[in-house]
Amino acid sequence: MPYASPQAESKLTTAVTTSTLRKMKAEGEKFITVALYDAPMSAMAQRCGVEVLLVGDSLGMTVLGYDSTVPVTMEQMIYHVEAVRRGNDKSLIMGDMPFMTYATPEQAMINATRIMQAGAHMVKIEGGEWLAPTVKMLGERGIPVCAHLGLTPQSVNKLGGFKIQGRDDKQAETILRDAKLLNEAGADLLVLECVPSELAKRVTEAVSMPVIGIGAGRDTDAQVLVINDILGLTEKPPKFSKNFLIEAGDIPSALNKYAADVKSKVFPADEHSFN
Ligand code: KIV
Repeated sequence: MPYASPQAESKLTTAVTTSTLRKMKAEGEKFITVALYDAPMSAMAQRCGVEVLLVGDSLGMTVLGYDSTVPVTMEQMIYHVEAVRRGNDKSLIMGDMPFMTYATPEQAMINATRIMQAGAHMVKIEGGEWLAPTVKMLGERGIPVCAHLGLTPQSVNKLGGFKIQGRDDKQAETILRDAKLLNEAGADLLVLECVPSELAKRVTEAVSMPVIGIGAGRDTDAQVLVINDILGLTEKPPKFSKNFLIEAGDIPSALNKYAADVKSKVFPADEHSFN
């Protein structure tokens, strides 16, 4: 193998499943998620005990040089899901479904099948109430789904930019209601991006599925950061991110520090959150 085997001193000793994550939510133990895109980093994440990996369509911006996630294709997602899966046999791997590949439940079924066959254990889709029938249909056919609310980057052109969501009461109530509807439809996880911490806390307490926050304060069940932000590779890093490489000195230490700070609720601090 061209990279160190993930089994070498892996902190994850058994495969992470949706049941593992629900148990962690019930017991109040935070779990760690990293968005990453290749086999060596995936192997390192396993060794550092990262429970969930997201092969995010953020790869359009972090790897491929686009200015949004809109141009990302199914072929690009499949290529990266396969690579991440080859590097790791314990973390739960989520694959993003690209823009417009799940616009109807039928399209979602065909494209989610391809992401799962590339090696993902779950697919992630962005949107609210309109996705409840899709979540239900995929779940009934054996495909776990992670929903994504708040700032949904595929809708950047409709939202008018990468902006905090849920700041006014009406928006906040819609996010809360959508989260409950998707939970009832059978979603297994929820990513909540760039919302005020107070709203994230209300959503996390209102749903049985574990909630993964990014720019959503410290009260969600888990945190996700993009590997480029953790390693200081982003030219203009978002407020909610943190460069862990500066203090840590090398890549494994940076991942270990991120993991330890999430577990001990040190990260995110107030300076990484919105109120
Ligand atoms: O694509 C991605 O990496 C994401 C995370 C930022 C949550 O959706």
